Amino acid sequence: MKDIILTGDRPTGNLHLGHYVGSLQNRINLQNTLDYEKFYIMIADTQALTDNADNVDKVKNNIIQVAIDYISAGLDPNKVCIFIQSMVPELAEMTTYLMNLVTVSRLQRNPTIKEELKQRGFERTIPIGFLNYPVSQASDILAFGTTIVPVGDDQLPMIEQTREIVNSFNNTYNPTEEVFKMPKALLPKNKICARLPGLDGKLKMSKSAGNAIYLCDDSKTVKQKIMSAYTDPDHIKITDPGKIEGNVVFAYLDAFCNDEHFKKYLPEYKNLDELKSHYQQGGLGDVKVKNFLYQIIEEILTPIREKRELLIKDVNKIYEMLFENSLKASNQARKTLEKMKENMGLNYKKLLKN
Ligand code: TRP
Repeated sequence: MKDIILTGDRPTGNLHLGHYVGSLQNRINLQNTLDYEKFYIMIADTQALTDNADNVDKVKNNIIQVAIDYISAGLDPNKVCIFIQSMVPELAEMTTYLMNLVTVSRLQRNPTIKEELKQRGFERTIPIGFLNYPVSQASDILAFGTTIVPVGDDQLPMIEQTREIVNSFNNTYNPTEEVFKMPKALLPKNKICARLPGLDGKLKMSKSAGNAIYLCDDSKTVKQKIMSAYTDPDHIKITDPGKIEGNVVFAYLDAFCNDEHFKKYLPEYKNLDELKSHYQQGGLGDVKVKNFLYQIIEEILTPIREKRELLIKDVNKIYEMLFENSLKASNQARKTLEKMKENMGLNYKKLLKN
């Protein structure tokens, strides 16, 4: 049995380097190497609305931005099915039934929800839709028979929740056939990629924290951002010994650089270990390390920018692709929804006597 892969993003802004190392790279790799049955990538507008109810325009306008980011980063619409969540209404209907299998306190214990409630100042005014989005996310995953969900580590609680819902559904309704597959998370290979810090070194890179380098940033902006990145505040003179821990520039080098980059841009060092130890001893200035990082990031972002320029000329083509795919996804989700209702006993047509 080949795998079915599904993942997604909320369309609340352009994608940044955190998305790139945390999920996009992983997806592109899977797209190009794994022999999967189906690969869905969902633009989660419904989920984005759970904390943007009064900001529909923002969510709506970012759908195309995210789609362009995907394709320009290397996702191929001929290989992956990119669709829009709200255009698959079956997901909402599934959520309605699955909600009955989850308690409020279980959702409140979800570590990602807890963190997000804090960030949004929602502690006393939690929208029900927001608290419930892990259940809605379970529907996203289960509706397509997903076996693999490539995500960053902040999404692990959602996959765990989904797995609990599968067990709960099976215990409650004793289905006579397999309705839901048990999904597994697939995390990025290394820790730093799973949670890339922001430029300020405080939080993970995110739009809301204002500490991100976007895939669509121009060269000048990227340079400015890298030059402003948090390093070691006690590393004042070049001769001072510097700290690597908590140093954002080295965190990014961990995520992005390889030995080839040293050959090309900084041949006086063989690899990152050498660079790190020089920095720790003292005698290596931040600007030199930042310039090296800038060249590496530019190497990644230049082709993405070029592709974006081309794509932006014909957005209709991208919208048409999204609408077509959403219809296909809807047809697929309907099959699961019908099977689910049948196995719950919600099959009223059978009451008709002939
Ligand atoms: N919660 C995810 C995020 O914030 C987006 C998402 C929605 C998702 N539905 C999904 C991810 C299903 C994986 C699978 O990035």
